[in-house]
Amino acid sequence: MKTNQPKSPRRFKRITKNWDEFWAEFWHIRLMKDDPSRAMKSQQVVALCKEVLRLKKGERLLDLGCGAGFQAQLFGELGIEVLGIDISAPLIKHAKKLTAKQKNHISFQVGDMREIDFDSEFDAVVILGCSFGFGSDAENYRTLENVARALKPGGRLLLTGQHPYAASNHAGPEWLETDEGVLFHRGEFDPVTARLNGLWELVRPDGTLVDEGDNPEKNGIRCYSVPELHQMFTQVGLETKGFYGTWLLPPTLIQWFSNELISKAQKPKRRPRKTKSTKSK
Ligand SMILES: C[S@@+](CC[C@H](N)C(=O)[O-])C[C@H]1O[C@@H](n2cnc3c(N)ncnc32)[C@H](O)[C@@H]1O
Repeated sequence: MKTNQPKSPRRFKRITKNWDEFWAEFWHIRLMKDDPSRAMKSQQVVALCKEVLRLKKGERLLDLGCGAGFQAQLFGELGIEVLGIDISAPLIKHAKKLTAKQKNHISFQVGDMREIDFDSEFDAVVILGCSFGFGSDAENYRTLENVARALKPGGRLLLTGQHPYAASNHAGPEWLETDEGVLFHRGEFDPVTARLNGLWELVRPDGTLVDEGDNPEKNGIRCYSVPELHQMFTQVGLETKGFYGTWLLPPTLIQWFSNELISKAQKPKRRPRKTKSTKSK
């Protein structure tokens, strides 16, 4: 016999995934792989890098925090020799698969940008898509020291971080419908620490809630201002070359309303050796 009694509420179930499963495999690979807006953004990013860094065919480029290799693939198509490094093994696995058929010299390694140890090997370094700022200030500074050492004299750096003055644009909240359920994202910018903390949760059709557990972003992403970046570049021996505010071409210097903070810095060219006549002056 039917009753009008409400059904007992579904039991609430929560699953905690780790960073590689939740962010890398689910978000960055499964959701982003075939997303046309992601593909368009990667094209814009690579076009601006090529222009601002004056990248030439055959030059060696280090892509730190390269993720699933979306931009490295496009740099490779321009004839640039790329080494992509990321801390996440599933992302590097995907990047290798993505570029397996490319004939150019393009390679990937699992690694930590705070620990890399290259000496004057690269014509350019890029750190894209807010891959910079996950660590403490000391760790982020160490990354820039490593970058300065990795660049050849005259080598160029393009770095994007979270823009502190536009942090609220990344704060959400936003809900995205995906094949696997509804994805919820909320960010919180702490003005005291200048860190942007993000929360990602997926609610599956059966009501299960999946969240990210321990992850490199757990303490938020440090959002450096223009004067802070300039100071750090100078301290590690790089020359600040400019700050841009959009990925669109032509390159446009940062304005008070810009959504992006894209920095360019350069390792000084070796000073010409003094000749005898100049030495005696
Ligand atoms: C927001 S994603 C950007 C990925 C890619 N650059 C893009 O724009 O599509 C940030 C990336 O930085 C990586 N990452 C974070 N900390 C890192 C570290 N210490 N060393 C290397 N990679 C790191 C993450 O695994 C992630 O792939």
